[in-house]
Amino acid sequence: MTALLDAGERLGRDELEALQLERLRATLRHAYENVGFYRAAFDKAGLHPEDCRTLADLSRFPFTVKADLRDNYPFGMFAVPEDRVRRIHASSGTTGRPTVVGYTERDLDTWADVVARSIRAAGGRPGHKAHVAYGYGLFTGGLGAHYGAERLGCTVIPASGGMTARQVQLIQDFRPEIIMITPSYMLTLLDEFERQGVDPRSTSLKVGIFGAEPWTEQMRGEIEERFAIDAVDIYGLSEVMGPGVAQECVETKDGLHIWEDHFYPEVVDPFTGEVLPDGEEGELVFTSLTKEAMPVIRYRTRDLTRLLPGTARVFRRMEKVTGRSDDMVILRGVNLFPTQIEEIVLRTPGVAPHFQLRLTRQGRMDALTVRAEARTGASTAEREAAARSIAAAVKDGVGVSVEVEIVDPETLERSVGKIKRIVDLREAR
Ligand code: DLL
Repeated sequence: MTALLDAGERLGRDELEALQLERLRATLRHAYENVGFYRAAFDKAGLHPEDCRTLADLSRFPFTVKADLRDNYPFGMFAVPEDRVRRIHASSGTTGRPTVVGYTERDLDTWADVVARSIRAAGGRPGHKAHVAYGYGLFTGGLGAHYGAERLGCTVIPASGGMTARQVQLIQDFRPEIIMITPSYMLTLLDEFERQGVDPRSTSLKVGIFGAEPWTEQMRGEIEERFAIDAVDIYGLSEVMGPGVAQECVETKDGLHIWEDHFYPEVVDPFTGEVLPDGEEGELVFTSLTKEAMPVIRYRTRDLTRLLPGTARVFRRMEKVTGRSDDMVILRGVNLFPTQIEEIVLRTPGVAPHFQLRLTRQGRMDALTVRAEARTGASTAEREAAARSIAAAVKDGVGVSVEVEIVDPETLERSVGKIKRIVDLREAR
């Protein structure tokens, strides 16, 4: 295995930290000298890039948030002249202006390298075929996975998202070993395999690289069992690069190694912004270490996780993301994440791994209904038992009462990319 590692993965911890500091200082200088936003923010904080003498000094620098990117729409965060930008991606967001990101030629090269490293960590090898079902376009998923798989030496099948029946056909005909797809869309494929009467355990697939949305150990169990593959987690976000910021290793499946030679992580208290020690849960914050077109300094991801020591690699790990602070529902004072419901629904007999959360308002109180889909053939008694068991498990595990509705098989909307778990039916306040 060691023979397969690249130079960055073979660094010792001390060498890695020395490299991080050198790259961090260069990034702070690059941002300060070339992006008006960072110059103003550092000046306001009374800081100069030279004030960063150790990795810990980074915590003195100001955060960057999504609104800062929107305020500088479209190209105000770029640190290089526009003619050096080779690619642009954007995330639509739910309201207002999209968030725009740019890459120089060297950035695209780095991105392909970290995704290639990710696919290799997942068990992919040169010569494998990779079916990419992340969406192609302004979303970073499709093209990010694509160039990484090519860089590793795989044959890429750029399926993109959608046209589910054809995806199943392509997998049978082209016989890929690797699939890169959101976990929720993988479940949609599962239905389609079954509809076409094809045993999903009989395909050529060996490994699935799943990300772009939170998913749980229970979901891993479901996918691995139903498809007879290894399911591993890939994390990333457009503002920092796209997919390939962190990746789970197939041999350990114990959280995601952050490619720390390119992306410097911190976990902070989401309310006070104070840096938390490794091991404590909080909001993940990233500083890019090698980006040219759009360096990011202390970018607040809103993703909740904790940092753990490295295992299969020298790099620190992040635990599977629990959820985004934006997706947290506060119900009668209790915080609830869709992943908590996923864990419960997926271990309940009689229900399929499809569910939706409906938020409504009853009087002055918010109420939550969990709608889960019955497994085909589940009897009325089984459905009633499932509803009772989910409600009890939520009350027990999360500490709040919810309504549970078990709906007929194949009635909930299926995902073709990132799934939207929460349907908010409350009146705008
Ligand atoms: O979703 C990049 C990506 C594409 C990652 C394909 C992995 C695979 P954005 O559209 O900018 O970029 O969304 C980023 O998605 O802040 C997380 O909230 C969520 N997310 C991404 N990967 C994971 C994951 C892409 N493995 C946002 N687990 C991030 C949980 C994830 N959440």
